[in-house]
Amino acid sequence: MLKIISIAENEEWISKIENIISNPEFNITWVANEFKLYEQIQPLKPSIVFLPNSQSYNVYSLCGKISRAFPLTTTVLVFHSEQELDMKSALRAGAGDVIFMSSPIDKIKEDINLAIEKNSNKLFQQQQLKPTKIARVITVCSTKGGIGKTTVVVNLAAAYGKKLKVAVIDLDLQFGDVAMYLDVKPRQTIYDWVKGDKEGKKIDSYMTYYKDGISILAAPLRPEFADVITGDDVRKVIKILKQQFDIVIIDVSSYMNEIGIVALENSDDILLLTYLDLPTLRNSKILIDTLVSLQLDDRIKVVLNRQMKVKGLTMDTLEQVIGKKIFSALPVMEKAMVIAVNEGQPISYSYPRSQVAKNIFKMAETLYNPFNQTDSKDNKAKKHKDFVGGRV
Ligand SMILES: Nc1ncnc2c1ncn2[C@@H]1O[C@H](COP(=O)(O)OP(=O)(O)OP(=O)(O)O)[C@@H](O)[C@H]1O
Ligand SMILES: [Mg+2]
Repeated sequence: MLKIISIAENEEWISKIENIISNPEFNITWVANEFKLYEQIQPLKPSIVFLPNSQSYNVYSLCGKISRAFPLTTTVLVFHSEQELDMKSALRAGAGDVIFMSSPIDKIKEDINLAIEKNSNKLFQQQQLKPTKIARVITVCSTKGGIGKTTVVVNLAAAYGKKLKVAVIDLDLQFGDVAMYLDVKPRQTIYDWVKGDKEGKKIDSYMTYYKDGISILAAPLRPEFADVITGDDVRKVIKILKQQFDIVIIDVSSYMNEIGIVALENSDDILLLTYLDLPTLRNSKILIDTLVSLQLDDRIKVVLNRQMKVKGLTMDTLEQVIGKKIFSALPVMEKAMVIAVNEGQPISYSYPRSQVAKNIFKMAETLYNPFNQTDSKDNKAKKHKDFVGGRV
């Protein structure tokens, strides 16, 4: 409904406008004077304010004040006839339009409609100027299955949820289980989006809402549907979700193909999960070298999962083998993990005080903390420490 406020200053104006604006789509509020007008504009946020010329106030200076204080409202000056108008003053005051009560009713109607149109153009332009969201994109990858990618993805989402609008994309297209880890049953998946509306207007309807601001674009329901999805689709879906969410977290398959590469290329952070055995470490090093050749080196953050004491394998040796510092380490927590997965909950919900939950939370905070714009010295120091989270 279009909201209009007018000062009830002139009997002729009141009867004319009541007659014209009988349409239920308009809601007109009459105020007694300029002071009441100020009181009402703030809460009502009207589209149009009518200011009839009056002896009790200077219509131009009142118009100037309102135009400056409420730029999204269109101010329309009302005079009896053209002779009363000082065009220069009206323009300077930022008047959106001028109406003469002596004009025929149809002309007054036309002027009101023009003012309405001007106001909606103003709102549209304002909308266009609004910066679109550009989410942070984090992809979790590994060279080996079962290393903890999905675990990290859902727990990172939980760490950001409640505060930010989080999108999780399950790009483990054949056997993705993000939805299962969060105990939701997707009706639509990325497959349906690719088959249906790729233009992104209705991406929401293909996503499954979990809770706390977390939405999932699930993997296809059947493995054979995976082939339909191309690298271009992935590029497009990331681009769309970046504009609609604050953070996009991507789970990929450990089998590196075009889908995974496109996800990595379009990410701000690449969390490379590794494990303390030599074959996994060696393969992690190969993946790091590949990412370096793709010029993605500065985005890589190595996360050691299931950290435990292994004789002869110190943290320094590990960092030497892979040629990178460990960004974060998550300890082994078999029982709690099994319970969390079986309950279909992130571990930070079931066991918020567990070391894994705490370390994932710290990792999330270090990766992206839009609420801490100032980035204090302490935080900077923390970021440059060996790794996020404690050693076991
Ligand atoms: N730190 C940990 N301590 C104990 N168990 C863990 C830990 N991290 C993950 N797990 C368990 O390891 C198993 C595999 O984890 P997850 O499914 O997250 O791995 P993945 O890399 O996504 O595997 P896939 O490649 O098959 O998708 C799960 O049962 C999970 O609960
Ligand atoms: Mg997985």
